[in-house]
Amino acid sequence: MTQIKRQYGPARRPGELGVHSLDHFALTVPDMEKARAFYEAFGLDARSEGNALGLQTFNGLQRWGLLIEGPTKRMHHLSFGVFEDELDLFKRHVESVGVALLDPPAGIPSNGLWFRDHDGMLIELRAAPKTSPDAKSSGQFQSSPPGVAGAPKRSQSPFIRPTRLAHCLLFTRDVPSAVSFYSRVLGLRLSDRSGDDIAFMHGIHGSDHHLIAFARSNAPGLHHCSWDVRSLDEIGLGAMQMVGKGYRDGWGLGRHVLGSNYFHYVRDPWGSYSEYSCDMDYIPVDQNWIAGNHDAEDAFYVWGPNPPQDWTHNHEADQQKR
Ligand SMILES: [Fe+2]
Repeated sequence: MTQIKRQYGPARRPGELGVHSLDHFALTVPDMEKARAFYEAFGLDARSEGNALGLQTFNGLQRWGLLIEGPTKRMHHLSFGVFEDELDLFKRHVESVGVALLDPPAGIPSNGLWFRDHDGMLIELRAAPKTSPDAKSSGQFQSSPPGVAGAPKRSQSPFIRPTRLAHCLLFTRDVPSAVSFYSRVLGLRLSDRSGDDIAFMHGIHGSDHHLIAFARSNAPGLHHCSWDVRSLDEIGLGAMQMVGKGYRDGWGLGRHVLGSNYFHYVRDPWGSYSEYSCDMDYIPVDQNWIAGNHDAEDAFYVWGPNPPQDWTHNHEADQQKR
């Protein structure tokens, strides 16, 4: 059934309203050149858009990130993709659940719907191609057949370029309220959670285990953006690529429990992180995932080094106090 549908377009769950993709994130940052240097080293295509910087991957035209100059690093907005023929339905739906629609922010061209979430963060719903995958992304690999050496010479290691934005982890004042809002208004579904500390959500039209996640804090903010690479080997190569460019701080190599992905996080110039990720659990369009509530020990990582001491510190909250 699913295969038949895919001959005619992306995976789509009939008769149910929900965003299909995390389209892009937008941040203000205080130093555009530092931002460009970091994300280019990470393997992204940073392109000037007037005074802003767009973050693309090298395999298409999708802009996954937008960086706008501002006094501090801070979440500006989060944009989700919806099927074009559902934008009007979403407009009526958002209004019907009592959420006020807003004009697009100044300087951001948009024909999408804008509103604020439970925590005051700006959200856009835009008609856009489905960029969340229609099948599980790769992760395991065999580097060479028997009788052939698999590893490249270190001096000839490939430069790692992620293939897509995978998800964002956001800080929020209230995780259950976040789950309620994003379920009710955007049609996302809970994948797994650990009490009221962290929750992971997926799209209903075929999606990774999470395209967005929420962690408890005293203010909204971005903890990390995550980028899919092709293999565990590429995660290791990416980590070394960043060390070679002077970005030594981070966390990894490891494997998460919820979502199951392998990871290495690199600390950005503002104390948040960019994650190399692969082999994330996948929730097909025709499956209803049973969400679990997991003890903290079973919600974080299976193996890996100890996380940095300030792993859960919200640097954006510090700035908001000033
Ligand atoms: Fe992540």
